[in-house]
Amino acid sequence: MERVITEDLLKEDLENLSLRPKYLKEYIGQTEVKEMMDIFIRAARNRNEALDHVLLYGPPGLGKTTLANIIANEIGVNIKVTSGPSIERSGDLAVILTSLEPGDILFIDEIHRLPRVVEEILYPAMEDFVIDIIVGRDTTSKSIRVDLPPFTLIGATTRFGDLTAPLRDRFGVVHKLEYYTNEELRQICERTASIFECEIHEDALEEIAMRSRGTPRITNRLFRRVRDFADVLNDGIISVDICKHALDKLNIDEIGLDSKDYAFLEGIIDHFSGGPVGLESIAASIGEEPTTIEDVYEPFLLQRGFIKRTPRGRVATEKAYKHLKKSHNMGLFE
Ligand code: ADE
Repeated sequence: MERVITEDLLKEDLENLSLRPKYLKEYIGQTEVKEMMDIFIRAARNRNEALDHVLLYGPPGLGKTTLANIIANEIGVNIKVTSGPSIERSGDLAVILTSLEPGDILFIDEIHRLPRVVEEILYPAMEDFVIDIIVGRDTTSKSIRVDLPPFTLIGATTRFGDLTAPLRDRFGVVHKLEYYTNEELRQICERTASIFECEIHEDALEEIAMRSRGTPRITNRLFRRVRDFADVLNDGIISVDICKHALDKLNIDEIGLDSKDYAFLEGIIDHFSGGPVGLESIAASIGEEPTTIEDVYEPFLLQRGFIKRTPRGRVATEKAYKHLKKSHNMGLFE
């Protein structure tokens, strides 16, 4: 049983990799970031220099890792991929840094979760391409300076505000990735369908795009699930009807809100009279981690105007009441 699950996961992971665009010209959306990166990549390539350090931030699933891989591909250098929480000790980072070749890219996902002692190794590494390694213990310990090849750090984070100022200041290029438009998501879905050689109708592409919460990772996830329904029930043809049927079964509403979004919004409206309610309280009431709510659910709900953040907590907006077909229960004091 376990083998089957493992193989399934591997297959889906491999498919995800094959879906990732490899060059800037294949990457849909994020026009401004793409234009800027194109210039910086060409300049670095022409001068045969390492690209300046790049920080990419924004909600999950918008293509930060994909963009980092594209940058490496376009320059023609190796990329080493790691993440903030997986580097526990400064020695772990030292091993990675000293294994880089000139011009290579080091990609650190969730860079805001790097332990502070590790982060401090990064400062001289980013600025002067050196690290100071402590050898020996106590009275016999000494610091040895090791030169590094010029390299490019690409950091990614969903939480720009959690980065320390010294780390933030060491990135020469800082870009925010924005939610995608429905037209961009439609194109991404079309590309995915053509890679999978799937027949999909134009209105089905639009339906998937509309329910993707501005996020390509969700577009591809929904596409897969809809394809499952189409394979079993409709000879593999993805029509708008099969699409609506599948997405309704998956409890994804017409604008992409799922059962977790509903639990969150209903929690605020039903249990806290629409707010303001503190993050911890609403998280506890629906059994979610506060960080998951902040990083995954809230950004889209904020961007679409379903909630507001106030100094006293989260508030459900008029739009949320309307969308959930809830009536305002005006209190005595309103
Ligand atoms: N697949 C996932 N994200 C994409 C993007 N931005 N462009 C093209 N294909 C994608």
